[in-house]
Amino acid sequence: MATVLYNIGQLLTMDHQDGPVRGQDMNELKVYEDYGLLIEDGKVSQIGSSDQIKNLPADHKIDCEGRLVTPGIVEPHTHLVFGGSREHEMALKQQGVPYLDILKQGGGILSTVRATRETSAEELYKKAMFHLDRMASYGITTVEAKSGYGMDHETELKQLRVANKAGSDHPIDVVSTFLGAHAITEEYKDDPEALLDKMAAMFPTIKEEGLAEFVDIFTETGVFTVDQSRRYLQQAKEYGFNVKLHADEIDPLGGTQLAVELGATSGDHLAVATDEGIQQLASSNTIGVLLPGTIFYLGKGEFARARDMIEAGAIIAISTDFNPGSSVTENIQLIMSLAALKMQMTPEEIWHAVTTNAAYAINRGEVAGKLKVGRQADLVIWDAPNYKYIPYHYGVNHVNTVFKAGCKLYERGGLHG
Ligand code: NIG
Ligand code: FE
Repeated sequence: MATVLYNIGQLLTMDHQDGPVRGQDMNELKVYEDYGLLIEDGKVSQIGSSDQIKNLPADHKIDCEGRLVTPGIVEPHTHLVFGGSREHEMALKQQGVPYLDILKQGGGILSTVRATRETSAEELYKKAMFHLDRMASYGITTVEAKSGYGMDHETELKQLRVANKAGSDHPIDVVSTFLGAHAITEEYKDDPEALLDKMAAMFPTIKEEGLAEFVDIFTETGVFTVDQSRRYLQQAKEYGFNVKLHADEIDPLGGTQLAVELGATSGDHLAVATDEGIQQLASSNTIGVLLPGTIFYLGKGEFARARDMIEAGAIIAISTDFNPGSSVTENIQLIMSLAALKMQMTPEEIWHAVTTNAAYAINRGEVAGKLKVGRQADLVIWDAPNYKYIPYHYGVNHVNTVFKAGCKLYERGGLHG
């Protein structure tokens, strides 16, 4: 099967250099105008001028009519699989009850833990597939999915299995992360170490069954300390897992430094990372995954200092953090606007942050995030004339068509009547 895309107004291949893009380099973007692309057997087989590509033999020819074409978006941080929802907490937030207080009272993450325990694997699967469909509609073709709403062996395994099954059944590629250390449940409130031991006892099974590639932890006041996180993640590394941290989201405990110290693939949130944390991040290969949706949605705190991080030389990605509590959206395009408006990232930096760097943040840098001859054809045709338009025109969906491995995954429906 061969498909030709021609008359592409702007093509971003994101194929600038090997490896992730760091610091000032994030502001460089190659834009190919009036281009075309040939897809054969699910892969990109030629990239060239529109005139050159247009007349190649193909089963389908798509006139892009001057639209923008980019690689499929990579989402490096989501809590895809969960039971229930938490709209009832919105009023508490409006009254100014802090996120960590809601958690302390047994709500927040713990309320989703209860709901997830009560929801069958079949229901969780249906729900996850629904959210994946919606992510696809926003241009996402690869996504990371965390567990962490089970916090007992049975439910964590249920979540991980659902994430893996959804990943094999849905065209979107799903990368699984074990976040058993996500909160402290009532029975462990006086002994969080015992909870960590209980979660660490799952490492061998998760490894043997290939249920997760990463182990993640919530390093935060009232959740796990830096020392507890270090010990737990070191154990995870001994079992051969790559590690990630929810770090410096609300209180600056030094999670950013710990991510660097452990050689974590990514340190996520980093909203309150200190100068020292930023310097260390910048001189490491740990990717900072910034999640401005949570600051916007919780209505508290400062947005991560993306400018300082990029100027210091760090590798930055951005993500929705899709979850039922702190960032309830699958709309990565809205997050791109927040990155521009609230973290002063340039459109060029933002595109690196949702493609190449996002892919490296989940160890998919060699297969996703770029359009390149020989690589899987994951791409988006946008109803936009240029790449700066997406963060600019905010809150709506600009996707025209999404291709995953050369097959149409989503197409904007026309108006009826
Ligand atoms: O990334 N910070 C911890 N975990 C999630 C929130 C999960 C929830 O509130 O359900 C986050 O913000
Ligand atoms: Fe998260």
